[in-house]
Amino acid sequence: MNFNNKIIWITGASSGIGRALAIKFAKQGASLILSSRDETKLAAVKNECDAYTNNCAIFSIDLSNEENIIETADKVLKNYNRIDYLINNGGISQRSYTIETPVDVDRKIMETNYFGAVTLTKAVLPRMIEQGGGHIAAVTSVVGKFGFPLRSAYSASKHALHGFFDTVRAELKNQNITVTLIVPGRIVTDISINAINKEGKKYGLMDQGQAAGMPADVCARKIVRALAKKKKEFLVGGKEVIMVHIRRFLPRLYYKLASRLKAT
Ligand SMILES: NC(=O)c1ccc[n+]([C@@H]2O[C@H](COP(=O)([O-])OP(=O)(O)OC[C@H]3O[C@@H](n4cnc5c(N)ncnc54)[C@H](OP(=O)(O)O)[C@@H]3O)[C@@H](O)[C@H]2O)c1
Repeated sequence: MNFNNKIIWITGASSGIGRALAIKFAKQGASLILSSRDETKLAAVKNECDAYTNNCAIFSIDLSNEENIIETADKVLKNYNRIDYLINNGGISQRSYTIETPVDVDRKIMETNYFGAVTLTKAVLPRMIEQGGGHIAAVTSVVGKFGFPLRSAYSASKHALHGFFDTVRAELKNQNITVTLIVPGRIVTDISINAINKEGKKYGLMDQGQAAGMPADVCARKIVRALAKKKKEFLVGGKEVIMVHIRRFLPRLYYKLASRLKAT
């Protein structure tokens, strides 16, 4: 693994998996660009990274706002002559039944998780191609591989990322663009607390299943290794990731289990 002096842009770097990734890359001497909305939290993560790398900068971004993403990308690309890695990690989850969720909540989740990553990737790709290549990752979810109760829009947004980034990989292979889809199961972060409900408000609770998941720093260590190996798709988590294989190879069993899945 050699991330020394590599320029790595991470979204969702203020918390959870993004924060843990930033610290792992900092320990390897990478040059980091940390992005999310909350600059106070980003400053705390930068402070942790500064113990290991001299090159850590904050560029705040709102992934639900196309104009803001383009402006931020312009600023970043003016400050850096290359971007080696773009890690599309920022996102929000959902805790609401389909039938009760107004479409504007579906759109908010889709804007952040799907169009946010798409807009930022399109802003960075020309630079990567110009510089002779680059590596783009997207953090999706096991529910980007199958449906799950209370997550209809979230699951849809993560499925969409698979379609988009598989296509980017196929189209840009000859321009030396590597694409890794990271597919986490349950990782211990604030994702359920930060999830939105049918009113579009913060759910505010740590799910039991979430709390018993894989620690974020273990997850980040595995992701860093998968990126070094240029994996095309990487499942990370506990036994829950088996559902991905069940959905693929034993669909009838999946349909039976899906109707009995515990929602949290
Ligand atoms: N934890 C899990 O079990 C799990 C499982 C599968 C997939 N994932 C995926 O992993 C990624 C990271 O989530 P996490 O588990 O680390 O949860 P988290 O602790 O809630 O972190 C989410 C990150 O996304 C950022 N974010 C949210 N909305 C944003 C917006 N509009 N613009 C910019 N940044 C935004 C947040 O920063 P600000 O609030 O500062 O903007 C935060 O840094 C997400 O894509 C999530 O869907 C997590």
